[in-house]
Formats: sequence, C-alpha cells, structure tokens
Amino acid sequence: MLEEREARTLLTAAMDASRRAYAPYSGFPVGAALLTTGGHVFTGCNVENASFGLTVCAERVALWTAVAAGHRHVQAVAVVGPKAPRLTPCGACRQVLNEFVPPDHDIIIILDDDGAPQQMPLSALLPHAFGPRDLDHTDSVVSS
Ligand code: THU
Repeated sequence: MLEEREARTLLTAAMDASRRAYAPYSGFPVGAALLTTGGHVFTGCNVENASFGLTVCAERVALWTAVAAGHRHVQAVAVVGPKAPRLTPCGACRQVLNEFVPPDHDIIIILDDDGAPQQMPLSALLPHAFGPRDLDHTDSVVSS
C-alpha cells in the first residue's frame, strides 16, 4: 500500500483530471491518476463519443498514456468520479489494468472515500483474473 500522503496526492491528481473529462452524454466525469514504480504520474479522464460505444474510461486513458510514454510498471491507480463516492474501475478497466500487473507485486487501486484514500489490491477487484501469464507471456509486462 502507498503512504497516506502519496495516496492523497494521487487522488488530487485524479480529481484535477476529472475536470478535463469530455462527458457531454453521461454528464459523469471521471479522473484517474496512475503512479509508476519509477515515481512518474500519468493522468486520464473519460472521453466520450457520439457513437456511445467508443467512449473510453479515465483509467484506460491514463494507462495507455503511461504505456505510450514508455512506462509499463504500474504501482497504483487512483480513480475519482465526483458524482459517485467510492467509484471503482469498471470491469473492462480492471481487465486492462491486469495486463500490466508486475510479477512481484499487485497494482494498488485508490478510491476516494469522502476525501480520504481507500486502498485495495487490483486482485481483490478482479479475483482469479485471466492475463498474459495464462498465455505464457510472462515477460510481456516487463519487456520493452
Ligand atoms: N467511466 C470511467 O471513466 N471509469 C469508470 O471506471 C466507470 C465509468 C466513465 C465512462 C462514461 O464516460 C461515464 O463514466 C459513464 O459511464
């Protein structure tokens, strides 16, 4: 788990990102802030589309931004939906995050519990997950 101060900083970054959400159809902004094991932070917001199914969640935007910048080692992801207390990543985002679980530790998910960070391992939200190791791609997360 992260130190309380670090978790709060990530929650604040996620809240800031939620202000950049493009959510004209749902009116439901979401922000995410991803911390890499190297200490870099990448943020994302949900980006909706008139063709509704093309909407992308905040968590996936943050993750893909990190990967595109060359950072695959995810330590923690904070998620904030100002209209929904204790928002957790949707099922699709849990699966996409699971792709980047490092071999030696779990990804920590941080929720906004009325302003206080609540931390939990991704494996608690997605037990018995299917992932790259099931395909014997044990090096897929760490190789560059
Ligand atoms: N949304 C996210 O960005 N992350 C989640 O974990 C839950 C849902 C977005 C998708 C859509 O733009 C809006 O919230 C309503 O579902």
